[in-house]
Amino acid sequence: MANLGILTAGGDCPGLNAVIRAVTWRAASRHIPVIGFENGFAGLLHDKSRLLDPRVCDQSLARGGSILGCSGSNPYSDPDATLAVSLMVERHDLSTLIVVGGNTSMATAHAADLQGLPVVGVPKTIDNDVLGTEVTVGFATAVETATEAIDRLHTTAESHARVMIVETMGRDVGWLAATAGVAAGSTMVLVPEQPIRMEQVIDTLARRRARGHTYSIIVVGEGTLFAGESQPTGIPGAPGEPLRLGGVGDRLAARIQQATDFSCRVSVLGHVLRGGPPCARDRVLATRLGMRAADLAMDGIRGIMVAWNGGEVTHCPLAEAAAGLKAVSRELLDILDALSHAE
Ligand code: F6P
Repeated sequence: MANLGILTAGGDCPGLNAVIRAVTWRAASRHIPVIGFENGFAGLLHDKSRLLDPRVCDQSLARGGSILGCSGSNPYSDPDATLAVSLMVERHDLSTLIVVGGNTSMATAHAADLQGLPVVGVPKTIDNDVLGTEVTVGFATAVETATEAIDRLHTTAESHARVMIVETMGRDVGWLAATAGVAAGSTMVLVPEQPIRMEQVIDTLARRRARGHTYSIIVVGEGTLFAGESQPTGIPGAPGEPLRLGGVGDRLAARIQQATDFSCRVSVLGHVLRGGPPCARDRVLATRLGMRAADLAMDGIRGIMVAWNGGEVTHCPLAEAAAGLKAVSRELLDILDALSHAE
């Protein structure tokens, strides 16, 4: 039987190496070699690859980042590159490529599959915004990291009677801000799914002060919009790259300071949320999804993404995963509303 290929596309997150390890081990049990391509689809395009040895993967379960490297490169935006990819598939005798990625990478994976390269996807991202799966590899660890950081802010916020604003990653969805915000007992959580009404934020802070709460913690997802805005706060990325999000926390602090006499400070958690070893939950999720991805690939199934739904490993068509973003559920948004109205 031909070889399996694997690559980690898009931004890194904790748990990628646990997926690589699971795929390599599972394939080894059926004597199928796995070729790892470096830096996402770029490695497939430029033939930067290596045979993955299950023994080399021994230490990778608990290691953050990706031993293969990551990039958001998309070969299917260039017709010449498409041909180069087909040559590479032949050269490496690939039966299936396993793409570990977020929603943009699942769109690239879907394009690859339509162009004739069989693909099985594995969802990963700290943003948890991939459609077709309840949870992505990396999300649980980022929630743990953010929760610990916000927990730590309570004492300093209390000591100085401050409003602390914590900005988290998450791009266009608020799963990370909402989940960590609830877990760490924050006063308010602001997410891209619900643009900010500034007056409501200030009223909530003032009402809390009047009721004797000496400090407040506001968690804000980086992609959160002020009411009336159509684009989140950030700076232009490199050519061809999306807007680099960041700065909404500072803008919010400036508005609060303008309207009140509350002392306000901002902590941006940023890439810290993507770093470090995966938590136990992510290690197990990555192992279960990686093993199933290898099984499906070796059974000749293609054009799908493995997923976690209803407490078990499932799969969905790549087209579904590539169709858009998974927004925060109404039920969780209602909890966020309840938080800001709490006495
Ligand atoms: O997609 C994951 C993510 O962590 C987003 O939350 C964030 O906006 C983005 O990556 C930042 O990516 P980078 O700085 O690597 O371009």
